[in-house]
Amino acid sequence: MIKLPIEINAVKGFLHPEEGEILYRSCLEIASLGPALEVGSYCGKSTIYLGLACLENNNTLYAIDHHRGSEEHQPGEGYHDKELFDVKRNQMDSFSEFRKNIEMAGLSDTVIPIVSSSEAVARNWVGPLGMVFIDGGHSMEAALKDYRSWSCHLRKGGFLAIHDIFLDPSEGGQAPHEIMKLALSSGLFVEIRRVRTLVVLERI
Ligand SMILES: C[S@@+](CC[C@H](N)C(=O)[O-])C[C@H]1O[C@@H](n2cnc3c(N)ncnc32)[C@H](O)[C@@H]1O
Repeated sequence: MIKLPIEINAVKGFLHPEEGEILYRSCLEIASLGPALEVGSYCGKSTIYLGLACLENNNTLYAIDHHRGSEEHQPGEGYHDKELFDVKRNQMDSFSEFRKNIEMAGLSDTVIPIVSSSEAVARNWVGPLGMVFIDGGHSMEAALKDYRSWSCHLRKGGFLAIHDIFLDPSEGGQAPHEIMKLALSSGLFVEIRRVRTLVVLERI
């Protein structure tokens, strides 16, 4: 069982503790392959699970998020949180909440926040990765971009984790499920674990 340094339920976010545990365990396993990278940090919930695994192994987590929220976080949408809305600038801003949580978890020297869109970071990225976690924009276009931008940097034996996989379309959007199917049909990935809406694939 993972020992969390902060009260994880107090961290705003969309990850079930069982999913967090799987992220943590998976990230521990790939430590010798290279750094981990996540797309979509929000207030840092998934970041904390991945970051703790990196801390244990002296590894690094790159945490990409523009912190402007996805479609569903905007005013009037289902997952809008007023406390994360910068009224002066009239836009979402989850970065200060993210930073506070990462500091409280003791992960400031392990997690490298990249406050930018995933596509801009991907443009010139060169380093191989041990693990990629995709939980950014959930439109088909965004999910496809993230899959194409980041899965190619995984080392053999590395893990691609994808959140919000709904087999039944009535339960949730299908973009994460579609990229999972794409990965499996490429022949480059096999599924190694799945819990709730989180799936972990291995780059073979
Ligand atoms: C579902 S939330 C992530 C939840 C988080 N993983 C957790 O554990 O609570 C999605 C996040 O992706 C970010 N996002 C959406 N599209 C993005 C993009 N193109 N580039 C970077 N971040 C993006 C949003 O700002 C939002 O914070």
